[in-house]
Parts: sequence; structure tokens; C-alpha cells
Amino acid sequence: MNISIFGLGYVGCVGAACLAKMGHHVIGNDVSESKVELINQGKPTIIEAEIEDLVREGRESGRLEASMDIQYTVDNSDISFICVGTPSSREGHLNLNYIYGVARQIGEALRSKDSFHIVAVRSTVLPGTNKAVGEIIAEASGKERDKDFTVVSNPEFLREGTSVQDYMNPPLTLIGTDNEYAEKQFRELYRDIPAEFVSTDIEVAEIMKYVNNTFHALKIVFGNEVGNICKALGIDSHKVMEIFCKDKQLNISPYYFKPGFAYGGSCLPKDSKALRTLAHDRYVETPVINAIDPSNEIQKQIAVDIIESKGRRAVGILGLSFKAGTDDLRNSPIVDVAEALYGKGYDIQIYDRNVRVSQLTGTNSDFIRAKLPHLHQIITDDLDAVCSECDVLVITNKEKEFAGIPDKYPDKCIVDLVRQFRELDYDGNYEGISWANINTNAAQDRPVERNMLTTEY
Ligand SMILES: NC(=O)c1ccc[n+]([C@@H]2O[C@H](COP(=O)([O-])OP(=O)(O)OC[C@H]3O[C@@H](n4cnc5c(N)ncnc54)[C@H](O)[C@@H]3O)[C@@H](O)[C@H]2O)c1
Repeated sequence: MNISIFGLGYVGCVGAACLAKMGHHVIGNDVSESKVELINQGKPTIIEAEIEDLVREGRESGRLEASMDIQYTVDNSDISFICVGTPSSREGHLNLNYIYGVARQIGEALRSKDSFHIVAVRSTVLPGTNKAVGEIIAEASGKERDKDFTVVSNPEFLREGTSVQDYMNPPLTLIGTDNEYAEKQFRELYRDIPAEFVSTDIEVAEIMKYVNNTFHALKIVFGNEVGNICKALGIDSHKVMEIFCKDKQLNISPYYFKPGFAYGGSCLPKDSKALRTLAHDRYVETPVINAIDPSNEIQKQIAVDIIESKGRRAVGILGLSFKAGTDDLRNSPIVDVAEALYGKGYDIQIYDRNVRVSQLTGTNSDFIRAKLPHLHQIITDDLDAVCSECDVLVITNKEKEFAGIPDKYPDKCIVDLVRQFRELDYDGNYEGISWANINTNAAQDRPVERNMLTTEY
């Protein structure tokens, strides 16, 4: 394939050399004359393992060249990667001037090009940037997005130091597009890369890099805080974390990663509090671990705010225990939501097939008596009665019996705290606690193979 790469820094130089190695014809473009000269002399613009050989071989094979001529670069390629820098301001805002500047230049060059062109944003950019890049290109070229050109998001995951290895063996190949042709071209482009090819919405792809890197930062800080607590207790933290990482079911796994409602139950709140207190008693500062509980409380408040925002007084809560299939109400986060709404005078009805007030015993009974002393008056085992009498239905667990509610009660406001529905078209009366746009992307209706749906999660 004929590829152009705008920006020959870390990302651009590695991408150019690796794509040439994979058999594509690559033209690099940079505003820096010296970087263009280096590539044309067969030398890399950066210092990285393996890159020298790759650039030299690319030049020798005739598959790699560099130019400062934008028209030449665009005319002789079908896919242009934007790999220019996106520095951040002191306050953390991204400077997208380089991205938008290149987009304008590519657009101007496209004016006189007849064939379809794909522009791929490889730089790390915030959600919405690809859309703006498309608008700039359309304006500068006088052409139409998805008819004459398209813009896709194809974020880069490499780490400096191991960038060539990372490029050739990424954890996955990610592309955000709503254009079928672009998706096919990218599958072809990366066919020799031994990683799952994931095609998704543009904005999902755009935010992934930020989510990944923030999680990586969180992992480091969490490991360090655990280490500091262990050190204060005379415990070898490396042994602790080594064993922690052996648990691939709950610790290093997709488990617990679904955005949704607050955690509860008898273990997570109690044990995280105990570790926090232990650290405090030893004068170990653990701001990240300390922030877990306040974040969890905010999630409960968000649920209350969403329910209140519906402007209806009759609220049906479907599921009261802390998860499906149990009658354990202790520290069930929805109990706090029900308590808050009840205190504000909402007309609450609760349905939970597993909870029989008369059969609650011990700490379970004590907990609920302290929080919702009138529970016996507002809880019922008649799901249909709650659904027909209430205006807002709050779904708090994944009991199968809730699956048919949108079809059966089409005029209700549904507040979903657990992503009971994977995809749904419900006329705007549906709101998920921590997700948006269920089934609003037209591309998802197309019969293209979308690996995202098959990814175990
Ligand atoms: N460096 C990394 O490890 C890494 C990894 C993943 C993603 N990223 C992201 O990739 C992007 C690029 O990062 P980098 O480290 O390669 O940056 P860099 O500063 O090393 O390279 C950017 C290059 O773009 C060139 N440039 C600027 N304006 C241009 C224009 N109008 N036309 C052509 N070239 C132009 C600059 O001269 C420079 O050579 C950033 O968004 C970064 O966040 C970086």
C-alpha cells in the first residue's frame, strides 16, 4: 500500500520504518528539514533499538523516502498518518495546533487529488478531534467526508525504548471508524501484525489511550502505596504483589471493570477501610487508597441525581440486595439511594425476589432496620405492580426477569445501574449510570465483522 506519514518524531519514524519493513511504500513528511534529510540518508530521526537497521533497509529497498513537499506526499499515498506532536499546556489542555495545521495542509493537497484518501490520526488526541480534523479537511479540500476522503482514529500504543518491538507486537490493533472501506483497508494494512484487530466507534478509539495510560499510572501508584504499607509492617511487598498478580480471575482480569453502580456487600467496604486505617495508624500516606471510598459514595449520589433528574415522584427500585441471587442487604449501595430518596419524600416501591423482610435475621436485619425501618411497607414481590405503578424504574442487578421491561413498559423512565441492556433503542427514556449512546452509532447496525463484540469482557 502507499502510505504517507506526517511527523517524523518517535511515533512517525518508528511507524514509517516498520510499515516499510512490512512491504508498504512509505513517504515521511516533516517540517524539519534535518529530519527529512536524515531519513533520505537512511538514518533514523530518533535513537531506539533496531530502528537504525530498519530505516537503512527501508531506504535500500526503495520503500522508504521523506519529503517536505505536501502535495507530492499526498498525491503519492492513499493513507496519510498524522503523527505530529500534541503537547499539553501547563493546565493540562492539549495543544492541537499541529494536528489541525497538518489537517489543513492535507486538505489543500486533496483539492487536486481524484482518488479516495484515508487520513488516520495516530497522535494521542481527545475525543472529538477526529471529527474536527474531518471538518478542516472538508473545508480546505472542498470535498466531502466519506465520499472523497475519511478520517479514522488509529492510536499508537508504543513505549519509547521498545518502540519497534511494541509496534510489531502491540496488545491490539485499534481503529475507530464508521467507514467500511477504511476498516477493510486497515485490516489489510495490518494483516501481518499478530494482534487482535478491534474496530470500534471513533470516539471510543480516541479516548482509549487516555484510559490506558491513566490506568497504568494508577497501577504504579497502587503498587507503591501497597509497598509503603507493607514496608511499615515489615512485609516483603514484592512477594505480595507477585502473588497478587497470580490471581488472573479477580485481580488481573476483566472482572470488576464494568462501569456501573457503587460496590457494596460485607467485604469490599469493610476490608478496604481496614487497610486504610492500618496505613493511617502506621503514618503511611495512601491518597489513592483513601480516595476509593469517597469515589464509591459519589457513585451513589450520581444514582440519586439521575433519578431526581427525571422529575417524577413514583420510583420503583428493582433489586435491593447488593447483587443478584442473594438476600444480603448489608452495605448494599442501593439501600443508601433508597434511604436518600425516601428521606426526600419520594414515593418508593421496592421489588426484590430474594428479600423477605420477615425472614431477615442477624446483622442483615439490624442493618436494614437502621436504614429503612419502613421497608416492610414499601417492598413487594409483585414485579408487575411496581412496574405499572411507578414512573421511574431503577434496575440495580442483572436478574433475567428485568430483561423484558423496556418492551413491556414502553412509557417508563428506565435508570439502569448495571448495564442490564447491551444495546437498546428506547426513545430517550433510558439512562445508564455510567455510559452513553447505546445503539446510537449507525455503523453498529452494519453487518461488518466487529471484533469488539466478541472480546471477552
Ligand atoms: N513518544 C511516544 O512514546 C508516544 C507513544 C504513543 C503516542 N504518542 C503520541 O504521538 C504523537 C507524536 O508523538 P512523538 O513523540 O512522535 O512527537 P515528536 O515531537 O517526537 O514528533 C512530532 C514531529 O511532528 C513534526 N511536525 C510538527 N508539525 C508538523 C507539520 N505541520 N507537518 C509535518 N510534521 C510536523 C515535528 O517536527 C516532529 O518531528 C503525540 O500525540 C504523542 O502523544 C507518543
